[in-house]
Amino acid sequence: MRGPFQYGDRVQLTGPKGRLNTITLVREGEFHSHRGVIPHAEIVGRPDASVVVNSSGEEYLALRPLLSDFVMSMPRGAAIVYPKDAAQILSLADIFPGARVVEAGVGSGALSLHLLRGVGSDGALFSFERRDEFAEIATANVVAFSGSVPENWTLSVGDLQETLPTVCAPGSIDRVVLDMLAPWECVDVAAEALAPGGVLICYVATVTQLSRTVEQIRRSGGFAHAQASETLVRGWHVEGLAVRPDHRMVAHTGFLVTARRLAPGTVLPELKRRASKSDFSEADLGSWLPDLGPEGAAPASAEVWTPEAVGERSKSDKVLRKKVRETQQFARERGGELPAGEAEERPERADPARPDGAA
Ligand SMILES: C[S@@+](CC[C@H](N)C(=O)[O-])C[C@H]1O[C@@H](n2cnc3c(N)ncnc32)[C@H](O)[C@@H]1O
Repeated sequence: MRGPFQYGDRVQLTGPKGRLNTITLVREGEFHSHRGVIPHAEIVGRPDASVVVNSSGEEYLALRPLLSDFVMSMPRGAAIVYPKDAAQILSLADIFPGARVVEAGVGSGALSLHLLRGVGSDGALFSFERRDEFAEIATANVVAFSGSVPENWTLSVGDLQETLPTVCAPGSIDRVVLDMLAPWECVDVAAEALAPGGVLICYVATVTQLSRTVEQIRRSGGFAHAQASETLVRGWHVEGLAVRPDHRMVAHTGFLVTARRLAPGTVLPELKRRASKSDFSEADLGSWLPDLGPEGAAPASAEVWTPEAVGERSKSDKVLRKKVRETQQFARERGGELPAGEAEERPERADPARPDGAA
């Protein structure tokens, strides 16, 4: 992360028109644009944040990408947690150096990278992912960023409900972070793993998932202070007297739900609320969340909550295998050490399309 650029480093080049290109420095490598060439050897040895000149005399600023730049440009198999939400998760879940944190699912590993940074070398991250391909994509991305699999990271393949109790002892975990379609299915298993006072945080994309998650947390009786929020970040254009909000922004990513684990056996005192028009019955709730309605009236949860029903696109196995190969190649280009047995055959193409034009 510090010192002069070396082979294997990722470098973000900002060209004359402000366009970003992310490259990996390799021996004999060259960065080509239609305006000229920069041999990678010209960048190696220079301090971070230096200016390099291409064969046509044009200047490029060379910077090491920040973690947020890295996650936005790394190959993905599933939608990632954006840096603005990862930052909120670290704060709202109170992730601290030395914390023992459980995370599920892992998807592309974006949130894992933020959590690993938050827990530091004295902490431990236990990640769970039910699909093999995502576990491999996340591993390759973590290796691409860190150089190897961090010693304090355990990635288990399996459904969190079944796998968590086999990996973490009851009450041994400080924080549980859920980013999955149906986090309410995992509330009980998260409660079992959490130490009293521990934090559960769930990231969900839709209002219906948000409502379902909060209601389940309340019903479980194991938590206090269920709270929900979303984070909108609006960039600003600041130039001379033209100071105004950016015209474009990422309007919606997801909602965060947090709650504190009660000590086992603790029963929350009833809140003395004034009766209001918003009081509702079980049947009312059932009309909004069918699988929470009166017993017998509800279809099974899995039938209601599908990726398609909440507007997610599911990925075929074939597409995911391709993503695994791309991500592993990405890790290799950076000189990362993939765990034995995870090295797939080299892909035909090594330049996954990335939002910043990374190559
Ligand atoms: C949106 S992705 C997670 C993205 C990830 N947080 C990131 O930032 O890259 C959701 C993942 O959760 C996994 N998943 C869903 N339900 C799960 C469960 N019960 N146990 C383990 N993994 C689960 C899915 O396979 C999927 O890979």
